Amino acid sequence: MELYDAIKNRHSIRSFSPEPVPEDLLLQLADAAQQAPTASNLQAWKFLFVTDPDLKEKVDLVSPGLSGKPPVILVICSDMEKASRKGGRNSEVYGCLMDASMAAENLMLRAVELGLGTCAIKSFNETAVRKILEIPQKYRIEMLISIGYPEGNPRCPKRPPADEITFFNHFPQDDVQPQSIACNDFPASDSKPVIKRKSTDPELELFIYLITSAKALPDEPVSYGPIRLTEAASKLCRILCGKYPESEEYQALRSCIDKDKGKALTEPEAFSQMLKHISEILVECL
Ligand SMILES: Cc1cc2nc3c(=O)[nH]c(=O)nc-3n(C[C@H](O)[C@H](O)[C@H](O)COP(=O)(O)O)c2cc1C
Repeated sequence: MELYDAIKNRHSIRSFSPEPVPEDLLLQLADAAQQAPTASNLQAWKFLFVTDPDLKEKVDLVSPGLSGKPPVILVICSDMEKASRKGGRNSEVYGCLMDASMAAENLMLRAVELGLGTCAIKSFNETAVRKILEIPQKYRIEMLISIGYPEGNPRCPKRPPADEITFFNHFPQDDVQPQSIACNDFPASDSKPVIKRKSTDPELELFIYLITSAKALPDEPVSYGPIRLTEAASKLCRILCGKYPESEEYQALRSCIDKDKGKALTEPEAFSQMLKHISEILVECL
């Protein structure tokens, strides 16, 4: 099945046949789900498929959003211990839910391909579902998804044509509200300070990068700090290359940083080695 066909044919299913869904299909759904992107590559999700009739009946009772007696109820959870350890506040507040949502959409599209129907459910009693399924406290329940073979014709809410909800570069002028920057050192009048330099100016680019990174870092995973600093070092190196075009060392240092800076998350050992190597070179100019 073409991806776009799966996208167009996915509809929330609220009426299911009682036919059970084989376990290997459920594993295929989980496999599709976990191919989704996650903030900071956290992958803090867990997928609990509930097929036991007694447990399902109880979950159904405490989930007003659930309908159609699905043969399977999936509970998508996030490991919040992992999230707070590795993901920072952003992961706790919204990252995990966004990750779970991305996984859910992957799963729902794969379900279409496998002839299954699904419906995302957010209306459920979290405390009760936790108790019924004995879900440990460290897992946050993000959503339920009902799964099964569809019966009857689903409701298919219409979408407007894409060009009605799409804009390029700017919202229409009548939608734009003037924004104000609160800072006591700037004149409070209409005359907002305008920086005349262009953001492609390397020093200004570095300045913008440092300020926006400092604003974001407190809520981001701790491992992002070294990445941001290294990126800033690379930008500074670019400035030094421009200032001292005859010095090949800066060019070499910059290539070295740029080659390995992305490894902070995937290969921390190689990232650390690169920083050690550059530190040793820099110590020589003290
Ligand atoms: C985050 C989220 C929560 C939802 N919760 C429920 C729910 O509790 N009960 C329900 O019947 N449908 C629920 N839905 C399904 C929506 O009602 C459905 O996606 C929407 O009406 C559009 O229809 P479609 O999915 O068929 O395109 C939820 C969907 C999302 C994305």
